[in-house]
Amino acid sequence: MQERISELRNRFGADLDAAATLEACKAVRDRWLGREQGIIPAEMKRLRELPPGERPAFGAAMNVLRGEVEQGIARALERFQAEARRAAADRARVDVTRPGFPFEIGIEHPIRRLQAEIEEVFVSMGFEVWDLPEIETEHYNFEGLNMPANHPARDSQDTFYLPGGKLLRTHCSPVQVHAMEERKPPIRAVATGKVYRRDPFDATHSPMFYQADVLVVDNGITMGDLKGTLETFLKHVFRPDIRMRLRPGFFPFVEPGAEVDISCIFCFGAGCGKCKGSGWIEILGAGMVHPKVLRMSGVDPERYTGFAWGMGIDRIAILKYGVDDIRLFFENDLRFLTQF
Ligand code: DAH
Repeated sequence: MQERISELRNRFGADLDAAATLEACKAVRDRWLGREQGIIPAEMKRLRELPPGERPAFGAAMNVLRGEVEQGIARALERFQAEARRAAADRARVDVTRPGFPFEIGIEHPIRRLQAEIEEVFVSMGFEVWDLPEIETEHYNFEGLNMPANHPARDSQDTFYLPGGKLLRTHCSPVQVHAMEERKPPIRAVATGKVYRRDPFDATHSPMFYQADVLVVDNGITMGDLKGTLETFLKHVFRPDIRMRLRPGFFPFVEPGAEVDISCIFCFGAGCGKCKGSGWIEILGAGMVHPKVLRMSGVDPERYTGFAWGMGIDRIAILKYGVDDIRLFFENDLRFLTQF
C-alpha cells in the first residue's frame, strides 16, 4: 500500500515537473484532481475494495497525498500566472529612449495655395467669396448664362452629365447666376474651385481643373472698371511690370466679350517659344455681363451694368511657376510638390 502511494507521488512529481506552461499545468490539475476522471478521486474510490483493517491507514495516506498534489499544483499555477503578468507588463512598458518613427511632413498643394492667394486679392478689394457646388443644374451652368438647350457651346463644353438632369460644372461662371439671384447690386463676387470637362488627360488638358470667376454688378460699371480691376489683379498675381491687352472675343454671357493677354512673362514681350514669338500670352476670358444674363437673374439691365471674367488657376500656375505639364499637379509626387 505504501508502495502504491509513493509510486503515485513520484508519478505526480514527474508530471508536474514536465508542465512547462500555464496550460500544461492546468492539464496536470485536471488529470490529477478532476472530479470524474482524476487520478486522486479514482484512487479514493478504491478504498471500498480494501479489507476494512487497511482502510484507515490508506485513507489517511491518500489524504496527505491529495494535500501535496493540491499544493504542488497551486504553487505551479501561481508561478506561471506571475510570469504571465510580468511578461504583459514588459510588453506594455514604453521605452521613451527609443528613436521616433521618421515621417514626411506634407505641404499645401501649389494649386490650393494659389487658389487661396487669388481669393485673398479679391477679399482685399471688397469681394465676397462664393463656395459653390461642383454638381450643378443646367440652369446655373448654362441657361442662366445665355446658353439655351440648343446652344452650340453646350456641346463644345463637352459636359459630364449626371442622372437626374444634373451635371458637373464646366466652369465657375455659375457664380454670376447664383450671386445675382441671391443678392441685390452692388455685387462683388468671386468663386474658385474645381471644374470638369470631357477632355483628354495630356500635358495641357485635364478632365478636372481649377477656375476662378469674378462678377461685379452696380450702377454705371464700365469696361474701364473691368480693365482697372483686371490689371490690379494680374500685376498682383504675376509681376507689377506685367502689361495686358484685350482682344475682342465671344462668350455667350458677355457683350462685348474679350480675350485677355498678358505680356509674355518668359521673354518680357520680346517674343520667345512660349509666346510663339508674339510677346503675348492668352490668360483669360472677360466681358460686360450680357443684358439677358442680368435680366434672367432679376437684375434690371436699364439700371445696372456689370463685368465678369473667368480664368484657369492651373493655367496661371503653369505660367507663374514655369511648369510645362499640367499632369504634374495631379500626380502628387512630393519631389515636384515640395519645390513650391
Ligand atoms: N466661363 C468661361 C470658360 O470657362 C470663362 C469666361 C469667359 C468667364 C468670359 C467670364 C467671361 O466671366 O466673361 O471658358
